[in-house]
Amino acid sequence: MKMSARVCGAAFAAAVMLLSTNAFADPTYTLKLAHAVPVENPYHYGAMRFKELVEAETKGDMVIQVFPNNELSTGERDILEGLQLGTIDMYVGSTGPMGGFEKSFLLFDFPFLFKDLKDAFEVLDGPIGDHVFKKLDSQGIHGLAWMVNGFRNLTNSKRPVVKISDVAGLKVRTMENKLHMAMWRELGADPTPMAWSEVFTALQQGTIDGQENPLTVIYTSKLNEVQKYLALTRHVFSPAFIAIASSKFEDLPEKYQAVIVKAAKAAALHEREVYEKMDAEFLEKLRAAGMEVSTPDLDEYRKAVQPVYEKYRSELGDDAGLLDQILSR
Ligand code: PAF
Repeated sequence: MKMSARVCGAAFAAAVMLLSTNAFADPTYTLKLAHAVPVENPYHYGAMRFKELVEAETKGDMVIQVFPNNELSTGERDILEGLQLGTIDMYVGSTGPMGGFEKSFLLFDFPFLFKDLKDAFEVLDGPIGDHVFKKLDSQGIHGLAWMVNGFRNLTNSKRPVVKISDVAGLKVRTMENKLHMAMWRELGADPTPMAWSEVFTALQQGTIDGQENPLTVIYTSKLNEVQKYLALTRHVFSPAFIAIASSKFEDLPEKYQAVIVKAAKAAALHEREVYEKMDAEFLEKLRAAGMEVSTPDLDEYRKAVQPVYEKYRSELGDDAGLLDQILSR
Protein backbone atom coordinates (compact mmCIF):
# COMPACT_ATOMS: atom_id res chain seq x y z
CA MET A 1 0.00 0.00 0.00
CA LYS A 2 1.33 3.40 -0.99
CA MET A 3 1.27 6.22 1.59
CA SER A 4 0.32 9.72 0.45
CA ALA A 5 3.08 12.36 0.63
CA ARG A 6 1.18 14.11 3.41
CA VAL A 7 0.82 10.95 5.55
CA CYS A 8 4.42 10.09 4.88
CA GLY A 9 5.54 13.60 5.93
CA ALA A 10 3.46 13.46 9.09
CA ALA A 11 4.85 10.03 10.00
CA PHE A 12 8.39 11.32 9.44
CA ALA A 13 7.78 14.42 11.57
CA ALA A 14 6.31 12.26 14.35
CA ALA A 15 9.32 9.93 14.22
CA VAL A 16 11.74 12.85 14.39
CA MET A 17 9.84 14.31 17.31
CA LEU A 18 9.83 10.99 19.13
CA LEU A 19 13.52 10.53 18.50
CA SER A 20 14.48 14.02 19.61
CA THR A 21 12.30 13.92 22.70
CA ASN A 22 13.61 10.45 23.54
CA ALA A 23 17.22 11.49 23.01
CA PHE A 24 16.86 14.30 25.56
CA ALA A 25 13.86 13.02 27.49
CA ASP A 26 14.37 13.05 31.21
CA PRO A 27 18.01 14.03 31.35
CA THR A 28 19.43 13.29 34.79
CA TYR A 29 21.13 16.67 34.90
CA THR A 30 20.07 20.05 33.49
CA LEU A 31 22.39 23.03 33.90
CA LYS A 32 21.46 26.64 33.24
CA LEU A 33 24.32 28.61 31.63
CA ALA A 34 23.90 32.39 31.38
CA HIS A 35 25.79 35.18 29.68
CA ALA A 36 25.17 38.90 29.18
CA VAL A 37 25.65 39.50 25.45
CA PRO A 38 23.79 38.84 22.15
CA VAL A 39 24.01 35.51 20.35
CA GLU A 40 26.35 37.03 17.74
CA ASN A 41 29.09 37.54 20.37
CA PRO A 42 31.99 35.03 20.68
CA TYR A 43 30.78 34.08 24.20
CA HIS A 44 27.67 32.54 22.69
CA TYR A 45 29.72 30.49 20.23
CA GLY A 46 31.74 29.21 23.19
CA ALA A 47 28.62 28.46 25.22
CA MET A 48 26.97 26.60 22.32
CA ARG A 49 30.09 24.56 21.62
CA PHE A 50 30.18 23.61 25.31
CA LYS A 51 26.51 22.58 25.17
CA GLU A 52 27.04 20.45 22.03
CA LEU A 53 30.06 18.67 23.48
CA VAL A 54 28.49 17.93 26.86
CA GLU A 55 25.19 16.73 25.42
CA ALA A 56 26.92 14.54 22.84
CA GLU A 57 29.35 13.06 25.35
CA THR A 58 26.63 12.26 27.91
CA LYS A 59 24.17 11.15 25.18
CA GLY A 60 21.71 13.73 26.40
CA ASP A 61 21.84 12.63 30.03
CA MET A 62 23.11 16.12 30.81
CA VAL A 63 21.44 19.07 29.12
CA ILE A 64 22.89 22.60 29.04
CA GLN A 65 20.28 25.36 28.70
CA VAL A 66 21.94 28.51 27.38
CA PHE A 67 20.41 31.89 28.32
CA PRO A 68 22.07 34.71 26.31
CA ASN A 69 21.75 38.48 26.42
CA ASN A 70 20.99 38.92 30.14
CA GLU A 71 17.79 36.86 29.86
CA LEU A 72 18.31 35.82 33.48
CA SER A 73 20.14 38.87 34.76
CA THR A 74 20.94 42.57 34.62
CA GLY A 75 24.66 42.03 34.05
CA GLU A 76 27.63 39.85 34.82
CA ARG A 77 27.80 40.52 38.57
CA ASP A 78 24.18 39.48 38.77
CA ILE A 79 24.88 36.17 36.99
CA LEU A 80 27.82 35.44 39.28
CA GLU A 81 25.66 36.13 42.33
CA GLY A 82 23.13 33.73 40.77
CA LEU A 83 25.82 31.03 40.81
CA GLN A 84 26.41 31.69 44.49
CA LEU A 85 22.67 31.66 45.28
CA GLY A 86 22.00 28.52 43.23
CA THR A 87 19.59 30.18 40.76
CA ILE A 88 22.04 29.92 37.81
CA ASP A 89 24.52 27.05 37.36
CA MET A 90 27.07 28.28 34.87
CA TYR A 91 28.69 31.51 33.68
CA VAL A 92 30.43 32.66 30.55
CA GLY A 93 31.62 36.22 30.88
CA SER A 94 34.35 38.69 31.59
CA THR A 95 36.45 39.00 34.74
CA GLY A 96 35.27 42.63 35.02
CA PRO A 97 33.25 42.26 38.24
CA MET A 98 35.50 39.54 39.71
CA GLY A 99 37.70 41.78 41.86
CA GLY A 100 34.61 42.26 44.04
CA PHE A 101 34.38 38.47 44.57
CA GLU A 102 38.04 37.47 44.80
CA LYS A 103 40.70 40.17 44.80
CA SER A 104 43.31 38.04 42.95
CA PHE A 105 41.35 38.80 39.79
CA LEU A 106 42.37 42.46 40.13
CA LEU A 107 45.74 41.28 38.81
CA PHE A 108 44.31 41.35 35.30
CA ASP A 109 42.68 44.78 35.60
CA PHE A 110 45.85 46.88 35.44
CA PRO A 111 45.95 49.01 32.29
CA PHE A 112 48.16 48.07 29.33
CA LEU A 113 49.27 44.86 31.06
CA PHE A 114 49.24 42.53 28.04
CA LYS A 115 50.36 43.37 24.53
CA ASP A 116 48.41 40.75 22.57
CA LEU A 117 46.35 37.58 22.96
CA LYS A 118 49.36 35.28 22.98
CA ASP A 119 50.90 37.32 25.78
CA ALA A 120 47.68 37.24 27.82
CA PHE A 121 47.06 33.51 27.43
CA GLU A 122 50.64 32.67 28.38
CA VAL A 123 49.70 34.02 31.81
CA LEU A 124 46.06 32.87 31.98
CA ASP A 125 46.78 29.29 30.87
CA GLY A 126 49.80 29.05 33.19
CA PRO A 127 50.37 28.86 36.96
CA ILE A 128 49.08 32.42 37.56
CA GLY A 129 45.74 31.66 35.87
CA ASP A 130 45.49 28.38 37.84
CA HIS A 131 46.25 30.20 41.09
CA VAL A 132 43.47 32.74 40.49
CA PHE A 133 40.93 30.01 39.67
CA LYS A 134 41.93 28.09 42.80
CA LYS A 135 41.30 31.14 44.95
CA LEU A 136 37.89 31.59 43.36
CA ASP A 137 36.73 28.23 44.74
CA SER A 138 36.39 29.85 48.18
CA GLN A 139 33.59 31.99 46.68
CA GLY A 140 31.53 28.97 45.59
CA ILE A 141 32.45 29.44 41.92
CA HIS A 142 34.62 26.94 40.08
CA GLY A 143 36.58 28.35 37.11
CA LEU A 144 36.87 25.86 34.24
CA ALA A 145 38.73 27.57 31.40
CA TRP A 146 39.91 30.99 30.26
CA MET A 147 38.19 32.67 27.36
CA VAL A 148 38.54 36.15 25.90
CA ASN A 149 36.42 39.27 26.02
CA GLY A 150 39.16 41.34 24.39
CA PHE A 151 41.10 44.56 24.23
CA ARG A 152 38.84 47.38 25.33
CA ASN A 153 38.39 50.57 23.26
CA LEU A 154 36.66 53.83 24.06
CA THR A 155 33.55 54.98 22.21
CA ASN A 156 31.65 58.22 22.77
CA SER A 157 29.04 60.49 21.25
CA LYS A 158 30.78 63.86 21.82
CA ARG A 159 34.07 64.07 19.90
CA PRO A 160 36.97 62.17 18.33
CA VAL A 161 39.47 61.13 21.00
CA VAL A 162 43.15 61.38 20.11
CA LYS A 163 44.91 63.32 22.87
CA ILE A 164 44.32 62.66 26.55
CA SER A 165 42.80 66.13 26.80
CA ASP A 166 39.99 64.89 24.49
CA VAL A 167 38.93 62.46 27.23
CA ALA A 168 38.51 65.25 29.80
CA GLY A 169 35.04 65.42 31.30
CA LEU A 170 33.57 62.52 29.27
CA LYS A 171 31.06 60.55 31.29
CA VAL A 172 32.24 57.02 30.53
CA ARG A 173 30.39 53.91 31.60
CA THR A 174 32.80 51.36 33.07
CA MET A 175 32.32 47.88 34.44
CA GLU A 176 31.87 47.65 38.19
CA ASN A 177 35.63 47.59 38.64
CA LYS A 178 37.61 49.98 40.81
CA LEU A 179 40.84 49.76 38.82
CA HIS A 180 39.09 50.59 35.56
CA MET A 181 37.39 53.51 37.25
CA ALA A 182 40.70 54.72 38.68
CA MET A 183 42.26 54.53 35.23
CA TRP A 184 39.58 56.74 33.69
CA ARG A 185 39.94 59.23 36.54
CA GLU A 186 43.68 59.49 35.81
CA LEU A 187 42.75 60.37 32.22
CA GLY A 188 40.35 63.08 33.35
CA ALA A 189 37.07 61.28 32.52
CA ASP A 190 34.09 60.85 34.80
CA PRO A 191 33.77 57.04 35.17
CA THR A 192 30.27 55.73 35.82
CA PRO A 193 29.91 52.02 36.69
CA MET A 194 26.71 50.49 35.36
CA ALA A 195 25.23 47.02 34.74
CA TRP A 196 25.54 46.04 31.08
CA SER A 197 21.78 45.71 30.47
CA GLU A 198 21.37 49.45 31.10
CA VAL A 199 24.17 50.71 28.87
CA PHE A 200 22.53 50.92 25.43
CA THR A 201 19.59 52.97 26.72
CA ALA A 202 21.85 55.20 28.81
CA LEU A 203 23.95 55.93 25.70
CA GLN A 204 20.83 56.50 23.62
CA GLN A 205 19.34 58.89 26.15
CA GLY A 206 22.65 60.68 26.70
CA THR A 207 22.80 59.90 30.44
CA ILE A 208 26.37 58.86 29.69
CA ASP A 209 28.64 60.01 26.84
CA GLY A 210 30.60 56.87 26.22
CA GLN A 211 31.62 53.38 27.20
CA GLU A 212 34.57 51.10 26.59
CA ASN A 213 34.55 47.54 25.26
CA PRO A 214 36.20 45.24 22.73
CA LEU A 215 35.24 45.64 19.05
CA THR A 216 33.36 42.33 19.24
CA VAL A 217 31.02 43.81 21.88
CA ILE A 218 30.74 47.22 20.21
CA TYR A 219 29.67 45.62 16.92
CA THR A 220 27.49 42.74 18.14
CA SER A 221 25.68 45.00 20.63
CA LYS A 222 25.14 47.59 17.84
CA LEU A 223 26.70 50.43 19.83
CA ASN A 224 27.45 52.17 16.52
CA GLU A 225 23.74 53.10 16.51
CA VAL A 226 24.26 55.29 19.58
CA GLN A 227 27.97 56.19 19.43
CA LYS A 228 29.72 58.16 16.69
CA TYR A 229 33.37 58.03 17.80
CA LEU A 230 35.60 55.02 18.33
CA ALA A 231 39.13 55.47 19.69
CA LEU A 232 41.42 52.42 19.47
CA THR A 233 42.73 52.77 23.01
CA ARG A 234 43.20 49.02 23.82
CA HIS A 235 43.70 50.25 27.40
CA VAL A 236 42.80 47.02 29.19
CA PHE A 237 42.82 43.40 28.13
CA SER A 238 39.58 41.90 29.40
CA PRO A 239 39.84 38.16 30.06
CA ALA A 240 36.72 36.01 30.17
CA PHE A 241 36.06 32.57 31.57
CA ILE A 242 33.59 29.74 31.84
CA ALA A 243 32.63 28.70 35.36
CA ILE A 244 30.20 26.47 37.26
CA ALA A 245 28.70 26.84 40.73
CA SER A 246 31.02 24.76 42.99
CA SER A 247 28.11 23.02 44.74
CA LYS A 248 26.66 21.88 41.37
CA PHE A 249 30.04 20.65 40.24
CA GLU A 250 30.67 18.73 43.45
CA ASP A 251 27.26 17.03 43.20
CA LEU A 252 28.05 15.58 39.77
CA PRO A 253 29.49 12.08 39.36
CA GLU A 254 33.22 12.15 38.63
CA LYS A 255 32.76 10.97 35.05
CA TYR A 256 30.48 13.95 34.35
CA GLN A 257 32.85 16.36 36.09
CA ALA A 258 35.50 15.15 33.63
CA VAL A 259 33.12 15.70 30.70
CA ILE A 260 32.48 19.27 31.86
CA VAL A 261 36.15 20.09 32.32
CA LYS A 262 37.12 18.69 28.91
CA ALA A 263 34.21 20.36 27.10
CA ALA A 264 34.93 23.72 28.79
CA LYS A 265 38.56 23.66 27.63
CA ALA A 266 37.56 22.81 24.05
CA ALA A 267 34.78 25.44 24.05
CA ALA A 268 37.22 28.06 25.34
CA LEU A 269 39.64 27.40 22.49
CA HIS A 270 36.77 27.69 20.02
CA GLU A 271 35.62 30.98 21.60
CA ARG A 272 39.16 32.40 21.34
CA GLU A 273 39.30 31.52 17.62
CA VAL A 274 35.92 33.12 16.96
CA TYR A 275 37.05 36.25 18.84
CA GLU A 276 40.26 36.57 16.82
CA LYS A 277 38.40 36.27 13.54
CA MET A 278 35.69 38.76 14.53
CA ASP A 279 38.14 41.23 16.07
CA ALA A 280 40.00 41.34 12.76
CA GLU A 281 36.81 41.91 10.76
CA PHE A 282 34.77 44.27 12.90
CA LEU A 283 36.82 47.46 12.66
CA GLU A 284 35.97 47.80 8.97
CA LYS A 285 32.35 46.91 9.66
CA LEU A 286 32.13 49.63 12.32
CA ARG A 287 33.67 52.15 9.92
CA ALA A 288 31.20 51.08 7.24
CA ALA A 289 28.40 51.52 9.77
CA GLY A 290 29.42 55.18 10.14
CA MET A 291 31.74 55.26 13.15
CA GLU A 292 34.62 57.71 13.01
CA VAL A 293 37.75 55.85 14.12
CA SER A 294 40.81 57.49 15.75
CA THR A 295 44.17 55.99 16.71
CA PRO A 296 45.60 57.72 19.78
CA ASP A 297 49.28 57.59 20.73
CA LEU A 298 49.12 54.83 23.33
CA ASP A 299 52.52 55.59 24.88
CA GLU A 300 51.07 58.84 26.16
CA TYR A 301 48.10 57.02 27.70
CA ARG A 302 50.33 54.29 29.17
CA LYS A 303 52.41 56.94 30.97
CA ALA A 304 49.36 58.83 32.21
CA VAL A 305 47.82 55.78 33.90
CA GLN A 306 50.97 54.64 35.74
CA PRO A 307 49.65 56.01 39.08
CA VAL A 308 47.05 53.19 38.98
CA TYR A 309 49.91 50.70 39.43
CA GLU A 310 51.30 52.63 42.39
CA LYS A 311 47.92 53.16 44.06
CA TYR A 312 46.42 49.68 43.57
CA ARG A 313 49.38 47.34 43.84
CA SER A 314 48.88 47.04 47.60
CA GLU A 315 45.25 45.91 47.05
CA LEU A 316 46.67 42.65 45.70
CA GLY A 317 48.10 41.72 49.11
CA ASP A 318 50.11 38.48 48.81
CA ASP A 319 49.58 38.45 45.06
CA ALA A 320 51.52 41.69 44.44
CA GLY A 321 54.57 39.60 43.48
CA LEU A 322 52.52 38.01 40.69
CA LEU A 323 52.02 41.41 39.13
CA ASP A 324 55.81 41.82 39.02
CA GLN A 325 56.10 38.36 37.48
CA ILE A 326 53.65 39.31 34.73
CA LEU A 327 55.41 42.63 34.10
CA SER A 328 58.91 41.18 34.04
CA ARG A 329 58.28 38.41 31.51
O1 PAF B 1 31.33 45.87 29.58
C1 PAF B 1 30.92 44.81 30.06
O2 PAF B 1 30.13 44.77 31.02
C2 PAF B 1 31.44 43.52 29.47
O3 PAF B 1 32.57 43.75 28.70
C3 PAF B 1 30.38 42.76 28.65
C4 PAF B 1 29.87 43.60 27.52
C5 PAF B 1 29.21 42.34 29.52
C6 PAF B 1 31.01 41.50 28.04
O4 PAF B 1 31.68 40.72 28.98
